Amino acid sequence: MQIRLDDCVAVVTGASSGIGRAAALALAEAGADVCVQGYSHMADAEALAQAIVDRGRRAVAVKADVTRSDEVDRVVRTAVETLGGVDVAFANAGVFQMAALEETTDEIWNRHLTTNVTSAFFTARRVVPEMKKRGRGKLILNGSIFGAYGVPSAAAYCVTKMAIHGLTRALSIELAPHHINVNAVAPGNVVTPLNDVLYDYMAVQAGRPGDRDAGKAVLVKAYPRGRLGDVADIASMVVYLASDAADFITGQVMFVDGGYSAQ
Ligand SMILES: NC(=O)c1ccc[n+]([C@@H]2O[C@H](COP(=O)([O-])OP(=O)(O)OC[C@H]3O[C@@H](n4cnc5c(N)ncnc54)[C@H](OP(=O)(O)O)[C@@H]3O)[C@@H](O)[C@H]2O)c1
Repeated sequence: MQIRLDDCVAVVTGASSGIGRAAALALAEAGADVCVQGYSHMADAEALAQAIVDRGRRAVAVKADVTRSDEVDRVVRTAVETLGGVDVAFANAGVFQMAALEETTDEIWNRHLTTNVTSAFFTARRVVPEMKKRGRGKLILNGSIFGAYGVPSAAAYCVTKMAIHGLTRALSIELAPHHINVNAVAPGNVVTPLNDVLYDYMAVQAGRPGDRDAGKAVLVKAYPRGRLGDVADIASMVVYLASDAADFITGQVMFVDGGYSAQ
């Protein structure tokens, strides 16, 4: 079976980097036109839109702070006006900072909640009316193995991903009658800039401060497949969940983690 997304329009938040970038490209390679949202790395988002156009699909890049509902509204409005609607949305933008409980400031706590959870809520609330107009849709949220496990010095982040898994289940029930599927992808450790803080932290734990590769090597030991994740591992799950092949899957948290969560 070949998965195709021809005639679909997808919106991807946090597409200027990492998993979002790979997912946007993979969605385009499967045939979708894509609205890519970037924020502080807007040149990367513009370059991604060009790469999608070079592959023969339509694309638009929009700068937005996803913690603001008016800016998320503008992203989706641009997708509708430029690309004709929304069939698929991947609410992916996120931040991760390590801090022990006493070092978790109000700012760190609130930034995690607004960037990782509230933005997904804003995205869902804005894309769902567009999906209802189409009579169907695929909403994919980005969760994490940290949404299923407690991790030291990561309470703020863990809470946001637990919330994403809960939001996925709650929305899936509400939206199922509208033929809108809501699922989360829950990546294991995927090598992206987001994780530099974790690799640094693990390097310190390993007694090798400053040696990021040593930090990664410690993490690899926790993965039955013997490697960390690649952005392509997550992108292919996003394409699958966006496709007709996943029509009977809703309310699920799909772990893509090399066996980590099976232990
Ligand atoms: N990497 C992993 O191991 C892993 C594991 C599980 C889950 N995840 C989740 O995967 C998602 C993507 O992470 P990644 O690893 O690909 O990290 P990344 O490479 O650092 O990408 C993060 C993306 O989020 C965007 N972003 C951050 N704050 C934003 C804001 N206020 N407004 C708009 N966009 C904002 C960034 O845009 P700019 O750079 O343009 O500002 C960037 O495109 C996150 O939700 C993360 O929690 C990652």
